[in-house]
Amino acid sequence: MTFNPLQEKGIPLEKQIRTWHDIVKRPFNKYEVDCYSRTRQILMNGIEVEAWNFKHNFARNCADSDVSKIIAHSRRIEDMQQTTVNWLTPACQTVLETTLGYEQVAVDLTAWLAQNEPDDYVRETFNFGLLEDFDHLYRYSQWAYMMDGIDPNEILQGMTDVVVSRPTQNHHNDNGLRLRKHYDKFTADPQTKVNIYTLVSGEQQTHNFYAEHGMMYPNDDLRRTYGEICDVEEEHVTMYESLIDPTESPYEKLLLHEFTEVCNYYNCYKDEKDEKLKQVWEEFMGFELGHLQIASELFKQYENRDPEEVIGDKVVLPCHFESQKEYVTDILENEIDKRLSAGDKKGYTTIDKLPDDWESYKVQEKVGLEGAPTEQTIQLIKTSINRDIVSADEKLIHKQPDLIKRGLEIMAQAPNTLDYEDYKEMDKVDIMEF
Ligand SMILES: [Fe+2]
Ligand SMILES: [Fe+2]
Ligand SMILES: [Fe+2]
Ligand SMILES: [Fe+2]
Repeated sequence: MTFNPLQEKGIPLEKQIRTWHDIVKRPFNKYEVDCYSRTRQILMNGIEVEAWNFKHNFARNCADSDVSKIIAHSRRIEDMQQTTVNWLTPACQTVLETTLGYEQVAVDLTAWLAQNEPDDYVRETFNFGLLEDFDHLYRYSQWAYMMDGIDPNEILQGMTDVVVSRPTQNHHNDNGLRLRKHYDKFTADPQTKVNIYTLVSGEQQTHNFYAEHGMMYPNDDLRRTYGEICDVEEEHVTMYESLIDPTESPYEKLLLHEFTEVCNYYNCYKDEKDEKLKQVWEEFMGFELGHLQIASELFKQYENRDPEEVIGDKVVLPCHFESQKEYVTDILENEIDKRLSAGDKKGYTTIDKLPDDWESYKVQEKVGLEGAPTEQTIQLIKTSINRDIVSADEKLIHKQPDLIKRGLEIMAQAPNTLDYEDYKEMDKVDIMEF
């Protein structure tokens, strides 16, 4: 089924205030929840945080008190929705378990978006970020084993691989280099806009989660690992948000935010097997259709334009979750040595073509001077059980030494870097059976 969200009335705003009992629901069972129900819940929390935060920024720049009033009402609803969605997380789900969920979202969502992205340059950017989150998943999986004693598949359920990717110490770039070319608001496909708005929300929430929770562990190496990866997520927000046309007006952005929420809830509702969660996605899709009506009226009134010019006439699917192992392996094997090109080209290159004065080397030399926490992570697990925690097809696991040979920069390496020889040594040890 496909439908035109602009033709739907949805649930009117005045019917969207709920009781505290309805706002704060029973959490899911972390032992029984499907991994992709959890990824939906993690993503939709990020979508709601962005919706709420955007409306505060809108209000801070809005001189029209009638409009500010309308925004204030719907902003409260976004906040209540955020509470409902995020607090479905059970208290017993540890920070590291939730973290594995966040990186599973990043990997499998980005892979889906890349394959459904009509713009080649945007797709290339998605693939570039994909490999970085894939490496974060590998690093955090070591910690989940060391701190919580769990197999990463207790969270990932075998749907997402865990192997080394472009090493995290190589993700630290000059933040100016991260800026990409933006789409053209008049010609970009609505799917492109929704894809980017969705991913920005997810990455921003990942950043916020690490920033707010990395200090909850007493272990310094783990705290530093969260600090290091949190900073990469900041780079990801910088990179993905720069794809958005900055000349979109506030009303156009409001319209796009509500449309993004409608599309994401629709996709969640369509895919969800858990009855209780499905009800939440359905109800909130109704709320968002109500918000879209309001945004669309404001857009017509203040911009004198037709909302269809911006969002088209049909819903798009920005968050279908399924195993993406084949796609991710393909990108991993072909693009692990990809890097941001120097200067103002805003393109991509490979390690062998980087100039000696590449801007990002300066950042990497500085932050890694006393060692990279994400390398220390592998040093620790190697010392403890002689090899790393991985989960993938045997063939892919045995490719780790070669992957690291191609994916690791020669310049600006942290002193505790594991190289080809270290991975060769680990490869001799049987993979742990959990
Ligand atoms: Fe919302
Ligand atoms: Fe990540
Ligand atoms: Fe990320
Ligand atoms: Fe909304």
